Amino acid sequence: MATVIFVSRPTVVLSRLSNGTLVGPPAVLATVPVKIQQRKVHHALIPRGKGGRSSFSGVAATVFGATGFLGRYVVSRLGRVGSQIVIPHRCDQYDTMHLRPMADLGQIIFMEWDARDKDSIKQAIAHSNVVINLVGREWETRNYPFEDVHVTIPQQIARAAKEAGITKLIHLSHLNADIRSPSKYLRTKAVGEEAVKAEFPDAIIMKPSEMFGREDRFFNHFANMRWFGKAVPLIALGKKTVKQPVYVVDVAKAIVNAIKDPDSNGKTYALAGPNRYLLHDLVEYVYAVAHRPFVAYPLPRPLYHMIARLFELPPFEPWTTRDKVDRFHITDMKYPDLPGLEDLGIVPTSIEQKAIEVLRRHRRFRWLEEELGEARPAKTVDF
Ligand SMILES: NC(=O)c1ccc[n+]([C@@H]2O[C@H](COP(=O)([O-])OP(=O)(O)OC[C@H]3O[C@@H](n4cnc5c(N)ncnc54)[C@H](OP(=O)(O)O)[C@@H]3O)[C@@H](O)[C@H]2O)c1
Repeated sequence: MATVIFVSRPTVVLSRLSNGTLVGPPAVLATVPVKIQQRKVHHALIPRGKGGRSSFSGVAATVFGATGFLGRYVVSRLGRVGSQIVIPHRCDQYDTMHLRPMADLGQIIFMEWDARDKDSIKQAIAHSNVVINLVGREWETRNYPFEDVHVTIPQQIARAAKEAGITKLIHLSHLNADIRSPSKYLRTKAVGEEAVKAEFPDAIIMKPSEMFGREDRFFNHFANMRWFGKAVPLIALGKKTVKQPVYVVDVAKAIVNAIKDPDSNGKTYALAGPNRYLLHDLVEYVYAVAHRPFVAYPLPRPLYHMIARLFELPPFEPWTTRDKVDRFHITDMKYPDLPGLEDLGIVPTSIEQKAIEVLRRHRRFRWLEEELGEARPAKTVDF
């Protein structure tokens, strides 16, 4: 039986015959002594077909964190171009049901993993040529502080990927990741980026701003604030914060396009939407689309923190945290020097195009079927 061997790019494939002779294009064979990685990759990884769901793209991707918000869009995008997808998960198997039909029969492999067990990481990536790390958490738990989720786990994944000879590692960070940030989430994200780069210098770092989409925790969060009274608390009325949210599907497309792009290795991408808005105007638009009255009131940060602290006390997923309050009130950074969505061939989607998709469910019954109507687009800013 022939062993398939990947050279630097996943599409360049050599075969080793049973007598040990390598077979492949001469130009590729010439580079073999330097680059070769002897990985036992299944013969099914040879690209074939027309490029749809039932063909094979040559991508065998392990997606850590696929059970989250972004994960479902990434898996769906990978599935529709015909990829093999390994999904390590720690949840009940019924919680992965929505992912099962996202690729052709047999192309998604589920396996249990433990982020603290190096062997389970190794097993998860053993038969892949692409690794995508979407692991992240908005709040800390007793078992997993931010340092573990955003630094140690990505570091372990990057180290294992390097050792296994993975050709593409994509790591998800955050647009505002900064070691000086008031948010611990963002500080640890910045450290995580460095840790991944140190282990795997060719890693592709994706820095999305807050993502919006059906299951988001940004638009839905603000829309749900109506549960706690008729008015929305915002620090400084949201007039000192500028946000540039990005559509989750654009981020998923960016990840898949970065896999296909041979020049993406080692780059950091800043992924943001096409427009910048004052947080106040953005939340006002959210309420306009949801056909709900919008009344904002200024809440000083210490008071906001006190309220958020109450939500942190129960041992369940907190509705908000002090860290989240800070993160949502940080102005989105601008990175004019970093490549973005356009460099990966994606036209960024505006919130006006997709907000209705997220917010329709927040409407009262009588407005449910109504189209966008006269919800005035939010005012954009350029600072
Ligand atoms: N959402 C945003 O607006 C946004 C913006 C910028 C950057 N990001 C980053 O983008 C990535 C994906 O975001 P997301 O919104 O899809 O995140 P998410 O919905 O919170 O999903 C996170 C995923 O990570 C897994 N995970 C978390 N802690 C883990 C642990 N200790 N061990 C194993 N798995 C663990 C979760 O598994 P379980 O389901 O088992 O918990 C889940 O699959 C994250 O790195 C996030 O920080 C997100």
